[in-house]
Amino acid sequence: MLRSTQIDLVSRLRDLVINKTTTYLDDLWLIPTSHYIDAERARREMDSLFAVEPVIAARSSQLAEPGAYLSVKVMGVPLILVRQDDGSVRAVGNACRHRGTQLVEEGSCGVAKTFQCPYHGWKYASDGRLSRVPHHFESFVPMEKRLWGLVNYPAAERHGFIWVRTSPGDDVLDIGALLGDLDAELEAHDLANWRLAREEVFDEAMNWKTVADGILDPYHPEFVHPETVGPYINNNVYVFDAFTEHAARLVMSKKSIGEADLDELHENPAKYLFPNYVLLPNTFMVFQSRHFEVWTIEPHPTDPQRSLTHIRILTSPGFTDETEHAEYVEQNWALFQKVAYTEDWGVARRAQKGIASGAFTDTIVGRNEAPVHFMHSFIGKRLGDGSDGLRLLGEGPQPSDMKC
Ligand code: FES
Ligand SMILES: [Fe+2]
Repeated sequence: MLRSTQIDLVSRLRDLVINKTTTYLDDLWLIPTSHYIDAERARREMDSLFAVEPVIAARSSQLAEPGAYLSVKVMGVPLILVRQDDGSVRAVGNACRHRGTQLVEEGSCGVAKTFQCPYHGWKYASDGRLSRVPHHFESFVPMEKRLWGLVNYPAAERHGFIWVRTSPGDDVLDIGALLGDLDAELEAHDLANWRLAREEVFDEAMNWKTVADGILDPYHPEFVHPETVGPYINNNVYVFDAFTEHAARLVMSKKSIGEADLDELHENPAKYLFPNYVLLPNTFMVFQSRHFEVWTIEPHPTDPQRSLTHIRILTSPGFTDETEHAEYVEQNWALFQKVAYTEDWGVARRAQKGIASGAFTDTIVGRNEAPVHFMHSFIGKRLGDGSDGLRLLGEGPQPSDMKC
């Protein structure tokens, strides 16, 4: 983050703290509870959002050399990511075009010049072209091999992440355009050179938006984290800057920002800031000076009340001592487990259960919940819901008028 941005952020946050105020929406909004439980809604999100928008599939460092491949499943779609000879990355379907057999084991990685199907030996080049069909001449003419390569999915690299779109095509993904000015800010962090220190995927009984609502929420820390991070954060005080409809920055502040004088703040502004970068549809990056905690949340492919959250810890290139690095990662992983897995997801799992109880038809977004509104209105626009998929409190049928 540029120093000028840090100074702007500390000034704005300090003003909010001193004036006992925060960032407010103009209105109150209602989110239908069906958005968190309904299978038809989940299908529409998959078709109109997740099959359309680029999402993060891996780190670039996981494909270090030409021929390096990684088998991943993104939104339920099995893909092989392959580093090409020219240094670019391709995403191809992990499914043989003959009878559909997966070419490589799910979750596997390695280096290969070709992929040979284990069933009848069809062979594909690392760019997905079909190069060999046993008994082609006698058995498959006039099938044209050039038309039977692996299915191509758009892929791109930016800031050390590999992004894919999970519907097939040859389109070019312009991630920089999606990020707007956030692109330069991530560049200033030199994010491409941060190291993937640890990763894990959590399959949890929560709709993906239930998890996302929590990471976008500046209203809860004092209640949910009273003994961990709560005492260090100004609860319910935040600034929220949208760069594009996909990208935003949510920043909270350290408790002491209200007492610090301006010289002190300007000397080390970063010390007072807790930034969280929002990369819609489904990635959130919490920045903590020496590491990023990156959350990429996927809907479960079949159960709207489950989701898969991929947590990645990326550490700063500034580490030189491996032992120190290992201890740092261990400590921060333990902190993630306590603060996020136990505390944040503890209430989020309960929220999902309450929503699923069917006791009411809407939840409510307060004026102090601009980041939550930002995400839900983005989804609503993608799904063509009108009114951003949400309703204003006081407009149309209201919860109190409705029979539940
Ligand atoms: S299914 Fe792959 S070669 Fe037959
Ligand atoms: Fe939290």
